[in-house]
Amino acid sequence: KIVNSKAEEGRVMQLDENALLVLRERYLLKDEAGNLLETPDELFRRVASAISRGEDNDPEGRREEMNEAFYQMMANLEFLPNSPTLMNAGRPSGQLAACFVLPVEDSLDSIFESVKLTAKIHQTGGGTGFSFSRLRPKNDFVQSSRGVASGPVSFIRVFNCATEAVKQGGARRGANMGILRIDHPDIEEFVSVKRDPAELTNFNLSVAFTDDFMHAYEEDGEFPLINPRTKEAARTVKARKLLRLIAESAWASGEPGAIFLDAINRANPTPSLGEIEATNPCGEQPLLPYESCCLGSINLSRLVKDGEINWARLSELTHLGVRFLDNVIDVGTYPSGEIRDKTRGNRKVGLGIMGFAHVLIRLGIPYDSPDAARIGDKVMRFIERESKIASNRLAKKRGPFPNFRGSVWDGKNLLQRNATTTTIAPTGTLSLLAGTSSGIEPIFDIRYKRILLGGIEVEVEDPLWREIKDRADAEEKRRQLFRKAYEVPPLVHLNIQRTFQNSVDNAVSKTVNLPETATVDDILQIYLEAHRMGLKGMTVFRNKSRNYQILSCGTQQ
Ligand code: CDP
Repeated sequence: KIVNSKAEEGRVMQLDENALLVLRERYLLKDEAGNLLETPDELFRRVASAISRGEDNDPEGRREEMNEAFYQMMANLEFLPNSPTLMNAGRPSGQLAACFVLPVEDSLDSIFESVKLTAKIHQTGGGTGFSFSRLRPKNDFVQSSRGVASGPVSFIRVFNCATEAVKQGGARRGANMGILRIDHPDIEEFVSVKRDPAELTNFNLSVAFTDDFMHAYEEDGEFPLINPRTKEAARTVKARKLLRLIAESAWASGEPGAIFLDAINRANPTPSLGEIEATNPCGEQPLLPYESCCLGSINLSRLVKDGEINWARLSELTHLGVRFLDNVIDVGTYPSGEIRDKTRGNRKVGLGIMGFAHVLIRLGIPYDSPDAARIGDKVMRFIERESKIASNRLAKKRGPFPNFRGSVWDGKNLLQRNATTTTIAPTGTLSLLAGTSSGIEPIFDIRYKRILLGGIEVEVEDPLWREIKDRADAEEKRRQLFRKAYEVPPLVHLNIQRTFQNSVDNAVSKTVNLPETATVDDILQIYLEAHRMGLKGMTVFRNKSRNYQILSCGTQQ
């Protein structure tokens, strides 16, 4: 009976079969025996009601009105907050953010303090990013034990095993980002470790590139690797040789990814609070140590009607989205006092979009055409501008973020409630729930297999393709418009990323998909181009470069 009524309700809410599966497996409240305790509609009611309580801190708060507006935009699948908000709002855990960065200092106390916080964050569905650059290199001196250090890679394994053990109650696998600066003496080991598919299966790794390194590459120079403990050069390497090694690893395994530290810090809204050294697991959210951030995504595909984007509704959703996410910061609970204080000090939020590829298909524009970038630019500029207006209005009523003085917004004389407002998330699960293409990615294929939640394999048929596949001109439309990720040239991927990055104050989740036949040199060129474009990071994935033989920490997954 429950299942039937769910399916019935799903049809009313335009949830498709996969959306219902995801909801059932992951989001809807269950009792101990696994019986569902809420319907999708009740889920959106629960979340809207919890988040609208944030209005109570606002002298002009409008709790009832916002409760209804938040509910409507979620139930219409026009806006969805990140998974932890859907799972935990109005429930005892109450931890609502998807993205965290934790510090890892060069001491056992600091390392294991972070391991503990990581476990608590994963338990609530959040993901964690770390810079391991401060750890002394392998075989370096250790005063207390008169022994030698194990180095960053071996400590990353500790975090990896802790993640394995926690497993997020089956709802969500713990995701981590491990970052090492390009000038760390253990960089070669770090960039090669994931060529073994059994290694660090709960981690994405990214190299933190500096402009100095990219300069040394261009000059074909030597590049010093610095011991972070002594601040002295341990040795030098040829920049070209090192970048080639990294490209070879990325060719073989899709890892490591890249972040560009100087680009990230040029956009750091609070430089007086220190440098940004790391991002969240999928790279779209640079954060200071102990900062967390909640993301939300507007389903742009819902806003296309008769070949037009509904700009008025997009404006409304942007204002509501920023307000929703700002409320999340006050309503949410935090894994530690430090995380709470740092998060509430800057009040970063990340509003973005999903469904971009579907918008293009609906408008009759191929993903790899200049018009696609033009639409992307127009949409994101609009959201960015409206989000700043929304944050400014909130600041006038609720006050600016506590670290506003000395921030870049202070310098620009623009009162803001939030140090950042925009981010493009991957929307891996959210897009399935919303029945649209993920983030700003092209469609993966018109039909593909996807492994959900540690094991359930679902066959996903592109929802737009399903709508038109029986039409006489379907095949022609497919050829013209349904451009698959691997068919889109690398430079087009990068150009779309740049287009959005230009109007996003955090970063952009984007993968450059490469055909199996791509070479190491192709990948090298992509690094250079990404840096030249001023991007904050870059991920490549060559088709079939990773297999799924995964064993780690003695546990079969
Ligand atoms: O669609 P959903 O809200 O589930 O997540 P996403 O947009 O694909 O990913 C956004 C962020 O959620 C990631 O960058 C991670 O910080 C976090 N995440 C995680 O912690 N664990 C996962 N299994 C997936 C995402």
